[in-house]
Amino acid sequence: KNILFVASESVPFIKTGGLADVVGSLPKCFDKKYFDCRVIIPKYMCIPQEMRDRLEYVSHFYMDYLGQGRYVGILKTVVEGITFYFIDNESYFSGMRPYGDWLYDLEKFSFFSQAALSALPIIGFKPDIVHCHDWQTGLIPVYLKDRFRGGDFFNNIKSVLTIHNLKFQGVWDVKTIQRFSELPDYYFSPDKLEAYKDGNLLKGGIVYADAITTVSRTYAQEIQMPFYGEGLDGLMRARSQSLRGIVNGIDYNEYNPETDSYIDTNYTKKSFRIEKYRNKVQLQKELGLEVNKDRFMLGIVSRLTAQKGLDLVNCVLDEICAWDTQLVVLGTGDEIYENTFRHYDWKYSDRVSAQIYYSEAMSHKIYAACDAFLMPSLFEPCGLSQLISLRYGTVPVVRETGGLKDTVEPYNEFENKGTGFTFANYNAHEMLAKINHAKSVYYNKKREWNKIIDRGMLKDFSWNSSALEYQELYDWLIGY
Ligand code: ADP
Ligand code: GLC
Repeated sequence: KNILFVASESVPFIKTGGLADVVGSLPKCFDKKYFDCRVIIPKYMCIPQEMRDRLEYVSHFYMDYLGQGRYVGILKTVVEGITFYFIDNESYFSGMRPYGDWLYDLEKFSFFSQAALSALPIIGFKPDIVHCHDWQTGLIPVYLKDRFRGGDFFNNIKSVLTIHNLKFQGVWDVKTIQRFSELPDYYFSPDKLEAYKDGNLLKGGIVYADAITTVSRTYAQEIQMPFYGEGLDGLMRARSQSLRGIVNGIDYNEYNPETDSYIDTNYTKKSFRIEKYRNKVQLQKELGLEVNKDRFMLGIVSRLTAQKGLDLVNCVLDEICAWDTQLVVLGTGDEIYENTFRHYDWKYSDRVSAQIYYSEAMSHKIYAACDAFLMPSLFEPCGLSQLISLRYGTVPVVRETGGLKDTVEPYNEFENKGTGFTFANYNAHEMLAKINHAKSVYYNKKREWNKIIDRGMLKDFSWNSSALEYQELYDWLIGY
């Protein structure tokens, strides 16, 4: 069976968040005997040059879009057995960032959605299922019921839409969406692409996809309620029969403390007790923190936005940065958070380090070096950082929401259970209490602490079981 992933980003080519990790790693984990899963993304100029140089030309054609014949190049490459196709058009994909430019995003992804579907007959790949991701590809399920419907080729193609983050919906006024999507009036009513008087690409996907998934069970429940529903909770309830929560995994080869070449000292589930700390010492030297192997080190690797619960962190940052704690932050995002962390880096220079940039290498070093990892999200569809932390024997401190709730088991000292420290309410002092609890176990009950790490490192958050759940969903849609 043929599966096509269509998405706006994928590792190893281009990544702004966890979406890219999922799109780049999940296809590898399907049973290759039954599923031929390929991926299609835009050929952005901001994909590193050496990767763009490796792409092989497949074909090109001109597609009528907005009344003009537009160039659509198709390129490809194979990574670890998975074929990745790229849609090339320099006028759409030459920006410094893959997206984020409100003026052009709509046109860019309307073009991409049509071009990706139009390219399939030319490539000669007829999918049984087109699996779309987030609002950027929300038009595809609509097109599959409209202009790309029927005929020999597009006959009976099913669509799946995965919501990685309901907050981002691709909203513009109805007229503008009508113009760039080239969809007829018919689609712009409140039961279709219209929401609250505007047009909404994600909503189109949710209404027209044959199945909808999101990236954890709890988030699938949460988005049916007003607090997390981002205005679409009613629709999510209406489609609840077609909605599944399938928790994300991570690429266990890429995130592996035993073989990770970014980190100073590799370690295993057994040897972390005597080896993991070397990564801490190395990072302390590199970042100019006090070098002390026993100091409790807390890490944050994150987009710096309100979603990630950073208002809670800002609220009690002085208390978090107590004399017996080191805080290491890696991230970019809203200025308010970037500048607050920079300020604390200056204020407590021996124990706080703010690395305000994007770096794969630095992120791995932090996951390996830290004792605990902080992720107090306001909402979290799944979250990969806590999974990476668990894999690296770094104890997560998280708020019980979405995927964080599903993947971090609260520490219970009486029952010898738990892989991390969790709190329920969106409250800075509840968070602080958990950080302090973690710290007191770390300093005063080292054996208990190591057992928490043991349990975390033994958990399996590879794609194994979640890939099976997707396969089941595909089989069900195809009709087995
Ligand atoms: P989201 O997709 O909401 O940003 P996830 O936890 O699902 O959150 O995924 C975030 C991914 O991006 C993780 O792999 C994390 O390590 C990575 N990441 C976030 N910020 C940075 C950064 N500044 N440098 C390197 N990696 C980062
Ligand atoms: C989104 C979510 C994050 C999730 C990721 C991959 O960016 O914010 O929670 O892990 O997508 O699904």
